[in-house]
Amino acid sequence: MPSENLLGEKPLLFFDTGVGGLSVLKESRLLLPNAPFIYAADYAGLPYGMKSEAELASRIPAILGRLVERYQPEIVTIACNTASTIALEHVRSALDLPVVGTVPAIKPASQISKTGTIGLLGTKATIRQPYVDRLAAEFAADKKLIRFGAPELVYAAEAKLKNENPDMAVIRAAADGLISQDGGDEIDTIILACTHFPLVKEELQSVINRPIEFVDGAKGIAKRIAHLTEHLKWPRETHRNIFVTTSELEKVLPFEASLLKYGLSHFETL
Ligand code: DGL
Repeated sequence: MPSENLLGEKPLLFFDTGVGGLSVLKESRLLLPNAPFIYAADYAGLPYGMKSEAELASRIPAILGRLVERYQPEIVTIACNTASTIALEHVRSALDLPVVGTVPAIKPASQISKTGTIGLLGTKATIRQPYVDRLAAEFAADKKLIRFGAPELVYAAEAKLKNENPDMAVIRAAADGLISQDGGDEIDTIILACTHFPLVKEELQSVINRPIEFVDGAKGIAKRIAHLTEHLKWPRETHRNIFVTTSELEKVLPFEASLLKYGLSHFETL
């Protein structure tokens, strides 16, 4: 058992391909406002949702290994459903520190849904994962789970964080991809199984003509991180929270204003 009130000096590291993981970071900052953090985006690898399992299973542990070596974090949070459902176990066996994953929030959605018909919106890679089949079998065996892969929605969220207008045709196509399937009219709950998607939740609701409960894993992840670090006392002074990208720096400059709102004030390349 770790001793109480050790000073929390090591940062919490969040990892995604782009700005999607900010939806996870946001909830964690609300719970742990004094924790220092690093936000890492593998822009050189975006989109993960269109890559093969084999490629991601080797790419993700390699990049996280370099990030851990450079930033020596307390915990790694994979703030990406695609990366977590494919590479979580590979990352855990490669790294010698706690790794928190982001997986589709099928359990909470199942508890919320009244009609028993749930939509699951993710990347094409995520929705075909056996990990998702296992979650569905364990937590939603008595529910109808309708899946749809919406890779373009990742770019709509990226655009929004560049202060551009997200393409509403893309938003509509993602919603229709669920609703137009057999039984889709009964959907009352939609799992946002890609961390980019909560960033365009309002837009998604605006194209569906009935109220929908949108569910994602961010609050649960924040609680998990808080639990894993409860023996630490976070410093009071403000930190230089870093945004690090695997791409050239120019690529992330259009996000600067949004990143500042998430407490990210310093930009680096890996
Ligand atoms: N944000 C990632 C996720 O949660 C996907 C983005 C991508 O396809 O790179 O799945």
